[in-house]
Amino acid sequence: MEQHLQHPVFKALADIADAHHIEAYIIGGYVRDIFLHRPSKDIDIVVLGNGIEFAELAGKQLKSKVAVFKNFGTAMLKYQDLEIEFVGARKESYRSDSRKPIVENGTIKDDQLRRDFTINALAISLNKENYGKLVDPFNGLVDLENKLIRTPLDAELTFSDDPLRMMRAIRFASQLNFSIDEQAINAIKKQKERISIVSKERITDELNKIILSKIPSIGFKYLFDTGLLHLIFPQMSNLYGVDIINGKGHKDNFYHTLQVLDNICEATEDLWLRWAAILHDIAKPATKRFEEGHGWTFHGHEDKGARMVPKIFAHLKLPLNEKMKFVQKMVQLHLRPIVLAQEVVTDSAVRRLLFDAGEDIESLMILCNADVTTKNEYKVKKYRNNFELVKQKLKDVEDRDKIRNWQPPISGNDIMEIFGLSAGKEVGLIKNAIREAILEGEITNTYDNALQFMLEKAKEFGLQPIKR
Ligand code: CTP
Repeated sequence: MEQHLQHPVFKALADIADAHHIEAYIIGGYVRDIFLHRPSKDIDIVVLGNGIEFAELAGKQLKSKVAVFKNFGTAMLKYQDLEIEFVGARKESYRSDSRKPIVENGTIKDDQLRRDFTINALAISLNKENYGKLVDPFNGLVDLENKLIRTPLDAELTFSDDPLRMMRAIRFASQLNFSIDEQAINAIKKQKERISIVSKERITDELNKIILSKIPSIGFKYLFDTGLLHLIFPQMSNLYGVDIINGKGHKDNFYHTLQVLDNICEATEDLWLRWAAILHDIAKPATKRFEEGHGWTFHGHEDKGARMVPKIFAHLKLPLNEKMKFVQKMVQLHLRPIVLAQEVVTDSAVRRLLFDAGEDIESLMILCNADVTTKNEYKVKKYRNNFELVKQKLKDVEDRDKIRNWQPPISGNDIMEIFGLSAGKEVGLIKNAIREAILEGEITNTYDNALQFMLEKAKEFGLQPIKR
């Protein structure tokens, strides 16, 4: 292991440990990530004794300021680009519900036993006599090799110590493409209701980490199968299931959504576009109808879905800002390119789509591509080809008409000045008429044409210009 401890900070900590006869270890995620070849900047140090005192010694030696969290019995310092956290080994619960520190000192093994997973309980000794030695009493290394999330202690105890760990188990499984040990799964199923004592922010933090993993369906399947999803995000688990009437079924929208999410993750790292994939069909259960002669329909699910987005964001404590607006827009528009791809693509339809999507048109096309989940190779090819046509057409129309981020050539202010109007319904009507005429291709996107058109139109409303 010594080759991984080249950073001078480890030598400095080792010197302090030896000079003061204190056992000290690197522990947790930093050690795990050495084996996963994921270099990390967050280092956790556990000492047999007082973590805060040790941190203060380290702060002096490294000439760094120490932040002390007395309530938690921890201290932290920054050194170069590293964040180093110090804690004393504890015998009892690592983090209890009450979040009060448990001060009883323990051995390194006691401390490892109370950590969440065996792969997070690996420790490396910093003392001279066994510098760099891996301390792994719960076979975390074997679990890393077998790609297994397992708790050091009885899983039920581990999760009742801190119910957030149920989310963490699933998040690590999703991030690392690991499986979760059977016992741990059963413990989550049993204790899932206890997730209610964890703050929404922390749950959503883990959820976002699942969404940002390479194959998020791994995490969502665990969330669904354990029953956690239903508790933390019921709108999503409601997508599950197939109804059959007269022998006709529809696709299972939960698994479809997961497929769309996995697909989109190959094309984008953007958390919010990934959220759009999760939410694109969220209103299908609410809009589902069986129509004789037609089969299953989900009319208006894009509008209703867009209306559901703010509530879901608020419930999950996601930001209610332009990110939310973006997701809403994606949900609202997600059918438009598909409809375009199925019909003869007219310039005016393309112009409208460009106008409505604006600068998010590329994101929308990525979502629509990801939304093609049919197993029928022929259909996939047909859709993809049509999307290419739509894309080409979007480009042609944009090059020519510059509709993206477009403002009609005559503003509301212009209209008020020309006709001597104050703000009101008539101004809106005229503005709308100009925009429609340009989008429909009746007139070109220029001031002169728009002005001409407006003067004609104004006559219909009985308006006379006071100035030209
Ligand atoms: N830990 C724990 N139970 C928790 C949170 C953390 O036992 N609910 C322990 C684990 O040993 C973990 C260490 O504290 O490795 C550090 O936690 P944290 O920094 O949250 O996570 P990492 O494991 O470092 O992973 P990541 O940085 O990906 O969150």
